Amino acid sequence: MSKHIQNIAIIGAGLMGHGIALSFARANLNVTVMDPSQDALDTLHARIEGSMVSMGTGQEDIRSAIAQIAVNQDIGAAVKEADLVIEAGPEKLEIKRQIFAEVEAAVSDDCILASNTSVLPITKIMSQLSIKSRAIGTHWWNPPHLMPLVEVIRTQWSDETALSQVTDLLKDMGKKPVRVDKDIPGFVGNRLQHALWREAISLVENEVCSAEAVDTVVKASFGRRLAVLGPLENADLVGTDLTLDIHKTVLSDLDARGYPSPYLQFLVETGKLGMKTGEGFRTWEHGEPEKLLEHLVKHLKAQNTIEDI
Ligand SMILES: NC(=O)c1ccc[n+]([C@@H]2O[C@H](COP(=O)([O-])OP(=O)(O)OC[C@H]3O[C@@H](n4cnc5c(N)ncnc54)[C@H](O)[C@@H]3O)[C@@H](O)[C@H]2O)c1
Repeated sequence: MSKHIQNIAIIGAGLMGHGIALSFARANLNVTVMDPSQDALDTLHARIEGSMVSMGTGQEDIRSAIAQIAVNQDIGAAVKEADLVIEAGPEKLEIKRQIFAEVEAAVSDDCILASNTSVLPITKIMSQLSIKSRAIGTHWWNPPHLMPLVEVIRTQWSDETALSQVTDLLKDMGKKPVRVDKDIPGFVGNRLQHALWREAISLVENEVCSAEAVDTVVKASFGRRLAVLGPLENADLVGTDLTLDIHKTVLSDLDARGYPSPYLQFLVETGKLGMKTGEGFRTWEHGEPEKLLEHLVKHLKAQNTIEDI
């Protein structure tokens, strides 16, 4: 399985699909985006333009990126010429399996198939493919056009050439691909992230502090360091001996439940779904979410200018 990757098909034109399409188009690759929703396709170019404006991209570059992106509601037609298909449809196993069945019926034998699932094992999604060596995961982070990381996930069947071709392509585009050699739920990033969220929710549920306090603690302390000092670099900085002493005391006290918090369940059951309903762990006044997201984009843009070590 060895092919020059020039034509990319993206399945799903939502939050992730539009940013992934934008990222490939900026790298001058040919992109076709498929979505069953006509509205998602009709608004795609405008949403991409909006994201590029927020990145500070000039009009000429925006026009040339958009010219690289075609849309098609027909999945077979959308993927027919593709060298690489990235699925960014709903996070439902059955829908993803159905998408890949339809994709595989239309693509060439050497087309690489990738899912952008957040936590579903790629092996489960792709187990019904007839050519399983083409199956990989590419887990992008939101917003895909501003977050450098893409986790490239190997399944037990993945072809090594396919993995390195996609990794090299992502590197050439200025992304930071990281290989994940075992196809486990949540891969690396979401396991780390949700280990933190589990403890954050538990602290609020057990009335140790408010939700606002949890967020402030993270943002005003280790959150500041994380972009330049990873957790294992930090462990080496303070010493593995101190890390061991801390773990001897604190680990047995941390939330280790292997199921979602009842407090989280309660929020969902009572319609407190977060920013979209005005209340979740915290309350959100009109305009506050937009302000926070604007702040986030500014912060991510600034982070991308910090030189990597
Ligand atoms: N949102 C995030 O932060 C994030 C981050 C990383 C990965 N992901 C994963 O990426 C995928 C997409 O997430 P999103 O946030 O872009 O979702 P989204 O809801 O914004 O977009 C999903 C799109 O899929 C389309 N769709 C529905 N049924 C479809 C079908 N049968 N075939 C093709 N497309 C279909 C919808 O019309 C919609 O446009 C999910 O698997 C999600 O878990 C999301």
